[in-house]
Amino acid sequence: MARIREATKRDLDAIVSLWKQLMQFHTDMDPIFQISLHAARVFRKFAAKCVRNRGVLTLVAEEDGGIIAFCNTTVEMNPPVFPPGRYGMISDLVVDGRYRRRGIGAQLVEAVKLWLLKQGITSLRVRAASVNPVAMSFWRSRGFKDIVATLSQDITPGAMPGGGQII
Ligand SMILES: CC(C)(COP(=O)(O)OP(=O)(O)OC[C@H]1O[C@@H](n2cnc3c(N)ncnc32)[C@H](O)[C@@H]1OP(=O)(O)O)[C@@H](O)C(=O)NCCC(=O)NCCS
Repeated sequence: MARIREATKRDLDAIVSLWKQLMQFHTDMDPIFQISLHAARVFRKFAAKCVRNRGVLTLVAEEDGGIIAFCNTTVEMNPPVFPPGRYGMISDLVVDGRYRRRGIGAQLVEAVKLWLLKQGITSLRVRAASVNPVAMSFWRSRGFKDIVATLSQDITPGAMPGGGQII
């Protein structure tokens, strides 16, 4: 059984390594997710800030003496055009490939919900790549519903009416 706990800066190497797995998982599905050469350095800085910030929840799961999963959640405010409100936003969730399908992802999400509820926050969101069927199936199994879709296309002048002439 995995032990879930809050991350410390000593976990940063393991977190970055898991994040690379998460990004590779997506790049294998669509090259649009290809990361830059210095991405791991940028992410490490972001993760270090999250671990220090008491308003952000960075969880890790430990098993066999190592870190096998992590989940990062921020608290966001509704933009001012909507009624005031706060919600949790899961920015990253990954379970090491060798430990998947054993309920660890679900355990992490339950821990996030408890943390939010303790602050009176009753809404949780996540952005998931619709090309990632594993993630879509996971989030739906956890009771999440689609609310926004990001659509994408590559644009080339030749494909436009008039060969791309701007009127
Ligand atoms: C998505 C991910 C975090 C799920 O973690 P996990 O610990 O394997 O998930 P769980 O064991 O808690 O699965 C809970 C439920 O999710 C669904 N699910 C999980 N993995 C699935 C898969 N490969 N295919 C279909 N459904 C899946 C199932 O309904 C599962 O319940 P079941 O095993 O009783 O059928 C993990 O697969 C992962 O790290 N994937 C790569 C990174 C990623 O896609 N992250 C999400 C970013 S938005």
